[in-house]
Formats: sequence, C-alpha cells, structure tokens
Amino acid sequence: MPLDIGVLVSGRGSNLEAILDSIAHGRITGARVSVVVSSASGVRAVDVARRFGVDTVVLDAASLRLSRQEYDDLLAEQLARKGISQSDGLVVLAGFDRILGAGFVNKFAGRLINVHPALLPSFKGLHAQRQAVEYGVKVSGCTVHFVVADVDAGPIILQKAVEVKDDDDEESLSERILRAEHEALPQAIQMFATGRLKVNGRRVVVA
Ligand code: GRF
Repeated sequence: MPLDIGVLVSGRGSNLEAILDSIAHGRITGARVSVVVSSASGVRAVDVARRFGVDTVVLDAASLRLSRQEYDDLLAEQLARKGISQSDGLVVLAGFDRILGAGFVNKFAGRLINVHPALLPSFKGLHAQRQAVEYGVKVSGCTVHFVVADVDAGPIILQKAVEVKDDDDEESLSERILRAEHEALPQAIQMFATGRLKVNGRRVVVA
C-alpha cells in the first residue's frame, strides 16, 4: 500500500505542485497525495490539486468561524477519511497559514512536516525572507522539519542554503528560496516514504 499523504495548503500551492510533480516523475515513490485540504477557497493550490486529479476539501477558515479545536477536529476527520491518522500516513504543511493546536500536533507527532523559508532556528514565524534581508545575513535557505507544538521548532529533516545577494529584496530572495523548497520538500517526503527517517530527540538521522 502506498503511503497516503494529506497536504494542507492556503494559497499559491507551488510546493504542492512540486510534490505532485515529483510523484508523477518518480522522484517520490511508494506514496500518493490522497487529499489536499485548503484553509481558503478560490486559491491556486486547489486548482493545482484538481489539475492533478487529487481530491480536495476546502475548510474555509474565514467563513466557518470555528474555534481552533473545532477546526483541527474537522481537519483530522477529513484526513482520517483518507486513511491518514496518528498511526498511518503523512501530513504535509505546504504554505498552510493556520497554527495548529497542540492536540492536533501531538496526535500527528512524527507524521507531520512543514517547510519553512529560512534556515531554522533563524527567522522563525512570518516573513522569514524579509527578516533575513533586514538582518543582513549572507546565506539563508529553507528547512523541512517535523512539526511540534512550538512554532518552527521541531526536529530538522533537511535544509538547503541559498546565497543572499547584495541587491536582494524580499521578493527576489523569496523566489530563490522557493526554488530550494521545491527540491527540499519532495526529498524529505521521499525519505519519509521509504522509512529512512529516524528521530532521536532533536536530531533526525537519515538512514
Ligand atoms: C512557502 O514559502 C513556504 O515556505 C511558506 O509558505 C510558502 C508557500 O508557498 N510556509 P506555496 O503556497 O507552496 O507556493
């Protein structure tokens, strides 16, 4: 049975596209995206999912007006329908703009990953690329990590560095980092899907 992946999105969906493209071209094997859940309607990510023939669920946070717990429960229910649970499958945050509650995060511990557009632990939170430009670092990049209840603080699976050029602004650096994300996230998923990731405290060892 292939690994069932649920991808959570909110907007552009370029990382989702990179994942689906990697599956289509055999760079990710033994896994399929079984459902894409979007926290917003009318976003490009939903069109991307449909183009690849993937089932989509829109849980529009703005119109649902649920508590965090209620929203997370609904999310877990949608994933469970596709066989993604605390004991099976993988949940990938790919530009998902909601903070998940500790209940959800703990339930999916070890099966929930995120891509962040900076070399963690630098520049956590929003606008990581802008933070990097403003700080004046010469190198930034992206991080794929397991999600824990603290934002952007989970064990690191892999990182890719990119150069920060003297004339970079937030937009140009974001584009360069995004290209690195499109390589890193599928690679991390492939490692997970083939059972190569072993978490030992804060450290993730790739077998
Ligand atoms: C990416 O930069 C990701 O690192 C961040 O949100 C952005 C999502 O882009 N968490 P996309 O929707 O995958 O194009």
